[in-house]
Amino acid sequence: MNARDSKQDARSTTASGAPAPSDRNSLTIGPDGPILLHDVHFLEQMAHFNREKVPERQPHAKGSGAFGVFETTHDLSAYTKAALFQQGVRTEMLARFSTVAGEAGSPDTWRDVRGFSLKFYTSEGNYDLVGNNTPVFFVRDPMKFPHFIRSQKRLPDSGLRDNHMQWDFWTLNPETAHQVTYLMGERGLPRTWRQMNGYGSHTYLWINRTGEKFWVKYHFHTRQGMAFFSNAEAAAMAGNDADFHRRDLFEAIRRGDYPSWTMSVQVMPYADARTYHINPFDLTKVWPHRDYPLIEVGTMTLDRNPENFFAEIEQAAFSPGNTVPGIGLSPDKMLLGRAFAYADAQRNRIGANFHQLPVNRPKVPVNTYQFDGHMAFEHRGNAPTYAPNSGERGWSDATGTVEDGWEADGAMVRSAYTLRADDDDFAQAGNLVREVFDDRQRAALVEQVAGSLLAGVHSEVLERAFEYWNHIDAEVGRRIEEEVRAGTLNGIAGGAVTA
Ligand code: HEM
Repeated sequence: MNARDSKQDARSTTASGAPAPSDRNSLTIGPDGPILLHDVHFLEQMAHFNREKVPERQPHAKGSGAFGVFETTHDLSAYTKAALFQQGVRTEMLARFSTVAGEAGSPDTWRDVRGFSLKFYTSEGNYDLVGNNTPVFFVRDPMKFPHFIRSQKRLPDSGLRDNHMQWDFWTLNPETAHQVTYLMGERGLPRTWRQMNGYGSHTYLWINRTGEKFWVKYHFHTRQGMAFFSNAEAAAMAGNDADFHRRDLFEAIRRGDYPSWTMSVQVMPYADARTYHINPFDLTKVWPHRDYPLIEVGTMTLDRNPENFFAEIEQAAFSPGNTVPGIGLSPDKMLLGRAFAYADAQRNRIGANFHQLPVNRPKVPVNTYQFDGHMAFEHRGNAPTYAPNSGERGWSDATGTVEDGWEADGAMVRSAYTLRADDDDFAQAGNLVREVFDDRQRAALVEQVAGSLLAGVHSEVLERAFEYWNHIDAEVGRRIEEEVRAGTLNGIAGGAVTA
């Protein structure tokens, strides 16, 4: 009896379903002779292997996720008519967590902002909320986003990551101060994904049944309690288990220890946006809770691991452009830029019909006029492919005022947002350092920033970094500068500090 016969019952097939001749031996002329070109099974294996990767996400390549359910526990009908946010409604969902800058195989515990992507399979279509574990972001104009990401990635010559490049970008863009303070603080090293908060970060629009509009910000507070790694713990973990966060989530769910988060929103009456003392659409700012307190919405629980990582996580396609009735975008320029970027990335990364894959397909019937393309699987037979049509197939034809819109007027310009009374790049970062961080956290912040500056940042960028931190908080700035200068004098830093 040979090995093939022993597996006869469970025998593999070719992709076209015929019995596969052998998964172990190629076809040759005699045992020592050349391989034959008509060994189609061998050729197909080789050819498909060459194509089994898709491009990794640019950015947020390293991550993982799980399925679960969102339950709306409170009555939010005064603010939104969205079906998923009506009291008592349970909605199936998918979450994916990630690092931003690292590649698909990079360690989970390198210091970084963490992605917090959610896809709700609602009764009105898919709603995606693609946020982070911080409530703000580095820049406020989408034109800057590719530049920011490239400064976090690798040098063109050596292919190495580079602190000098990162601080060069940050210090030339002072609007980064708030998010950089979060990143250099504990949020940059969450202990597990289960123990971090999530934020929609942007301001979104909610619309209720009577057409009344509100601006909202989303918050997801972990019910596991927030926990963080120290630099030393994170570095050790990066060496011991580069997939620590991925493993932690998968194993927790496998043992039935389902992580959950409480979702709340801050709600700003529509008209307040005109007069609020900071621009409420500026992604580098938070809305103080004393102005707009948290209103609880419901609970998200993750209770089902993917069965197949590639099919369900790597091919998952999230987009801030995926909204449902009762929820809209806002004048936040970053959000508007993102509304284009994601689906375009996914057409490139996965293919034009990525939305037909089971993980991306809505749970409701789809009647899209997007037609054919690579790997088209779903189709509507010989139904009309154009609208309007005199056949049976429906089409949409909204006209007039847009329900999820807002007013805009003025000449076309290229400009930063109009400044308001308290719009300042450093003020909220300073409040974070002084009012939210305690002494221990401030000491850790000083140590982290000084360590980062000592690791390859030099000349005028270093001087700008001192100024940057001095603007955030004079005391913290002074301590950072002292540590760096002492470190430089002790020969820790390679770069020169000018006097
Ligand atoms: C204009 C600004 C931005 C642009 C152009 C942009 C673009 C992108 C692109 C192209 C991807 C890869 C998508 C894919 O291949 O599936 C991505 C991923 C991601 N981005 Fe952004 N991004 C921007 C800002 C932001 C902001 C402000 C946040 C958070 C508040 C964010 C959070 C994420 C997350 C969490 C992912 C991973 C999505 C996943 O889990 O599949 N991005 N971004």
